[in-house]
Amino acid sequence: MKDYRKMSRDELLGWITQFKSRQAARARTRKQAALSALGDSEARLRAILETAVEGIITINERGIIESFNLASEKMFGYLAAEVIGKNVSVLMPEPHHAQHDGYLANYRGSGQARIIGIGREVSGRRKNGTVFPMDLSVSEVQLADRRIFTGFIRDITERKQLEKEILEISEREQRRIGHDLHDGICQHLAGIELMSQVLEQKLERRSRDGSTRAGTIAKNVRETISQTRALARGLSPVTLEAEGLMSALGELAENTSKIFRVNCQFQCDPPVPVNDQAISTHLFRIAQEAVSNALRHGQKVRRVTIQLQAADGRLWLSVSDDGTGFPTTKAANGKGMGLRIMQSRTGMIGGTLAIGGNPAGGATVTISVPAANANPAPQHGR
Ligand SMILES: Nc1ncnc2c1ncn2[C@@H]1O[C@H](COP(=O)(O)OP(=O)(O)O)[C@@H](O)[C@H]1O
Ligand SMILES: [Mg+2]
Repeated sequence: MKDYRKMSRDELLGWITQFKSRQAARARTRKQAALSALGDSEARLRAILETAVEGIITINERGIIESFNLASEKMFGYLAAEVIGKNVSVLMPEPHHAQHDGYLANYRGSGQARIIGIGREVSGRRKNGTVFPMDLSVSEVQLADRRIFTGFIRDITERKQLEKEILEISEREQRRIGHDLHDGICQHLAGIELMSQVLEQKLERRSRDGSTRAGTIAKNVRETISQTRALARGLSPVTLEAEGLMSALGELAENTSKIFRVNCQFQCDPPVPVNDQAISTHLFRIAQEAVSNALRHGQKVRRVTIQLQAADGRLWLSVSDDGTGFPTTKAANGKGMGLRIMQSRTGMIGGTLAIGGNPAGGATVTISVPAANANPAPQHGR
């Protein structure tokens, strides 16, 4: 290049103009390349969203829907155009419908998310008003100038149905085995006990020793009968009467104290009758699992308290222990089936489940169900 110090003024001006236009051309090419790359990645992103089997919805900080993919359209029965610009609460049944703005405001204010980062089961509402169970996980995306939230949704109607059927089958099987034990084996054993007693009496005059032995056999058989009865009751615990749940829980506490040598108490004052058989059974099974968890995981548990009460229009069942409490790491709680089945049973009876600590340092599991579900009002006019 020529030395610019030796250029004439005109030459210098021409050179500067040329330099500037070359710079501008280069900048244009760079911008075009960037734009086309952006267009590419946008098209790719759109294709991913539209072909995803999961429903993917984005909302802004005020809860307004900004995008709604094809899978969401199928799940909710809305076209994207019908919901974009609306508040996301149109996709939720009561009470979340009314409360969602509050959730968002709470999150904006405190940064405390109830749902972000953790998947959980919630209910969705379709355009036609029907409600369905869904798995929802939400993630927060920080854009240059604002935040958006992305929700990933899976319809779990079939999975819930399957869970329900599996629980029903296992319940039926347990009942059947319980009845067979009670009506079949216990009857046989009762017969053997009677024969041994007769033998004991017959032998009394001939052989002291023989008679004593026959008496011992009768005693052992009697013991076996009472153990088998307890086993049968555990398998088929709740009778059809309204007091069924109370007496089954009382017996659970009694047997737990006897067999495991802990102080297990059932507290229920005043009495809480439950007419709905399904609710009684689910509540009993939840208590059974919670008690067995307390004994297995609580370590050095000395006291287990089962409590049943009615308050605030709801039925409350809690099982507390004075062990070491739930582990604080998520991994430990996610492993087992017991808590998940509890959750699933609770969902089936329209209740809520809470697990946590208690003043004794141990674990407490609490389930509450609307009292109206447990004791439906009698139908009039029929
Ligand atoms: N009463 C309790 N005290 C302490 N930890 C508990 C208690 N109940 C449950 N846990 C913890 O929660 C985990 C999950 O329980 P669960 O789902 O019933 O599975 P499992 O009993 O098969 O381990 C347990 O492994 C244990 O770590
Ligand atoms: Mg368990």
